[in-house]
Amino acid sequence: MDIAVIGSNMVDLISYIEKMPKEGETLEAPDFEIGCGGKGANQAVAAAKLGADVMMVTKVGDDLFADNTIQNLEKYGIDTEFTVKVPGTSSGVAPIFVDPDSKNRILIIKGANQHLAPEDVAAAAEKLKQCSLIVLQLEVPLPTVYRAIEFGNEHHIPVILNPAPASKELDFEYVCKSDFFIPNESELEILTDMPVESDEQIQAAAMTLIDRGLKNVIVTMGSRGVMWVTKEDVQSVASHTVKALDTTGAGDAFIGCFAHYYVKSRDVLEAMKKATAFAALSVTKRGTQTSYPTVEEVEAFLQQDK
Ligand code: RIB
Ligand code: NA
Repeated sequence: MDIAVIGSNMVDLISYIEKMPKEGETLEAPDFEIGCGGKGANQAVAAAKLGADVMMVTKVGDDLFADNTIQNLEKYGIDTEFTVKVPGTSSGVAPIFVDPDSKNRILIIKGANQHLAPEDVAAAAEKLKQCSLIVLQLEVPLPTVYRAIEFGNEHHIPVILNPAPASKELDFEYVCKSDFFIPNESELEILTDMPVESDEQIQAAAMTLIDRGLKNVIVTMGSRGVMWVTKEDVQSVASHTVKALDTTGAGDAFIGCFAHYYVKSRDVLEAMKKATAFAALSVTKRGTQTSYPTVEEVEAFLQQDK
């Protein structure tokens, strides 16, 4: 097994709107799509689509979405032995609103994801030990995230922590034990209480996390590219200019693709370059997982966009 994603899955209910209704107002919107999402599942699918062997430790509800979510993961070849149904609970859902500028607003109702417990990491231990990388986000309870980080440390498995959605309650005693901390700029702003308008400000904010003990901070900045900050060095990858249609799940696309190429080559900069292209292509199509490109599409895009 290459990658274990221990985290969330959601059903994305995506409304493509012209504008948000005001209180008490009913408005018609042009389009709607339902899709499989959730930051954990998106990241797992991104890596699997590129050819990684991926397992997912996650929980679904006891409703009409559950089987569909499991079948969707399996369709991408993801190991679902530790994808568990929670009786009497709803699956996680995410009502999403995408406006004509491709900007999104996302609500998450975590449902079964709330029930992913540290014990679930223990239950999957034998299989997890065989993984080369653990990938985590923050749509499941923090104690589970902390246990997963410790598990990675105990078994010398590198850990990627994507602090999304941002949580002020993050305990840095655990966070510092992750190998790669990958926030976007707004998460970085929330976590550090520092401005993130310019590259210099982002670098300064990321440096405070390094000072707090993190080894590698990689900040995804959307159309402004990606910055990798360590104690010794700062390196950046520029973004690609694309026509954005739906940016939902682009951050997850980056993480999943980065994870895959990092496992393959252990070359951080190379993985950042591939992931930047993969995420750029994902925003040119609607939806989250369904918008993720293939290896061939990424390679062709990188050739042409040199
Ligand atoms: O990052 C995008 C994801 O956030 C969506 O798929 C939605 O489910 C929420 O988890
Ligand atoms: Na997309």
